[in-house]
Amino acid sequence: MQRALPEPFRFKSIERIHLPGREEREQALREAHYNMFALKARDVYIDLLTDSGTGALSKEQWAALMLGDESYAGADSFFRLKDSVKEMLGFDYIIPAHQGRAAENILIGSLVKPGDFIPINMPFDTTRAHMFNAQATPVNCVVDAAFQPELEQPFKGNVDLAKLEDALKTHGDRIPFIMVTVTNNSGGGQPVSLQNLRDVSAMARKYGKKLFLDAARMAENAFFIKEREAECANMSMAAILKAMMDTADGATISCKKDPMVNIGGLVVLRSEEDYMSLLPRVVLFEGFITYGGLAGRDLDALAVGLREMVDEEYMAHRLSQVRMLGDMLIEGGVPIIRPVGGHAIFIDAGQFFPHIPQKYFPADVLSIEIYREGAVRGVGLGALAFEDKDPVTGEKIMPKLELYRMAIARRTYSNSHMEYIAQTVVNVYKRRDSIRYGLKLTYEPPVPGITHFLARLEPFAL
Ligand code: F0G
Repeated sequence: MQRALPEPFRFKSIERIHLPGREEREQALREAHYNMFALKARDVYIDLLTDSGTGALSKEQWAALMLGDESYAGADSFFRLKDSVKEMLGFDYIIPAHQGRAAENILIGSLVKPGDFIPINMPFDTTRAHMFNAQATPVNCVVDAAFQPELEQPFKGNVDLAKLEDALKTHGDRIPFIMVTVTNNSGGGQPVSLQNLRDVSAMARKYGKKLFLDAARMAENAFFIKEREAECANMSMAAILKAMMDTADGATISCKKDPMVNIGGLVVLRSEEDYMSLLPRVVLFEGFITYGGLAGRDLDALAVGLREMVDEEYMAHRLSQVRMLGDMLIEGGVPIIRPVGGHAIFIDAGQFFPHIPQKYFPADVLSIEIYREGAVRGVGLGALAFEDKDPVTGEKIMPKLELYRMAIARRTYSNSHMEYIAQTVVNVYKRRDSIRYGLKLTYEPPVPGITHFLARLEPFAL
């Protein structure tokens, strides 16, 4: 096992966390109806539910918050953000939004019609839910390697060009645009190569379609490209990021991830025409077009975060920390998606619990057991989150992957926290054969694609 690099930062302010006792944890689970989203944060010791909005701000970001211009229209903060986007990503037009899914609502809600199809490597949960909400269907075009957890390949987030071309030929005019998620969260935080982005871009142009990136974790993706794509080894991460963006007509960005803010999203665009077509929806749902549901100070913190995310020392540490956690789990025999992705470890819950049928939500059983063991909170991303229904028969279709995710917040947990997490998971792994229950839904929300957020669950013996 390779040790993680030492943290290239030190603490200036701390947040106390507490390990609740065994009985407290049992009660917390019962009160949460066995859903990790319903736990109180104070009952969690290490919180790996998400890397979204949970990172630590830098002192430069805290200072920038004080500069916020809270004018309703045309605030200085907006123009500082616009300059930062232009410098880091190369786009001329920006629409701030309160978070990633709001950016998705603006793009998808404005450009997608009922009956449309959207080819994408893989959508994350809310992106997929927004497509459903617009009565459109995502068409997963990720390479087959994404579904082979143990296969070591450098770019398992890549789009399979044959699948993409097939979708373009089959659905033709019903395709409003193509999307690529970088990194591919649903498939294990796996990167997309620059070559693949360029090939997808060329195919998009050939068929007269626009290409948008879902760029929440674009900086991690850029670092992986630098590490793994020979032609880019001598480029800076910032140059690679720009080159990635050069392939696209625009992007939706959850700024709560790589851009390192607690709240915020963006739509970035190359053409004025696209920009103008999206503005009415911004005014309807977010706020005026120069603040988009955020405070001026949020825009300033984001302008700084966009520059900090390409700090190569920071990113080298981050990815080595996630990798160290992965290595410790592999050493303990735990089946995880390989290679380790950027922001999280994904455990193959299907393999962890081969005796629990997928329809009884093994990934969510695992989330309960890991919380029970050490007050570590992760999230199930399997049948509960990604189950589909056959549009004709109404029959349930199980997702190909049954994963449990532990997402690592940015600049927040130390390398020794990683050791605690690994030990907790390995302890559960050692007693896996004695865990013989499944989960059934006692409440399911009526909106497709968001079951896992709001579900109530009940264990039953198998
Ligand atoms: N796209 C991707 C790839 C995401 O991972 C997320 C959020 C979104 C879009 C939506 O952004 O949360 O700001 O509205 N993912 C989080 C997660 C929540 O835990 O992975 P948002």
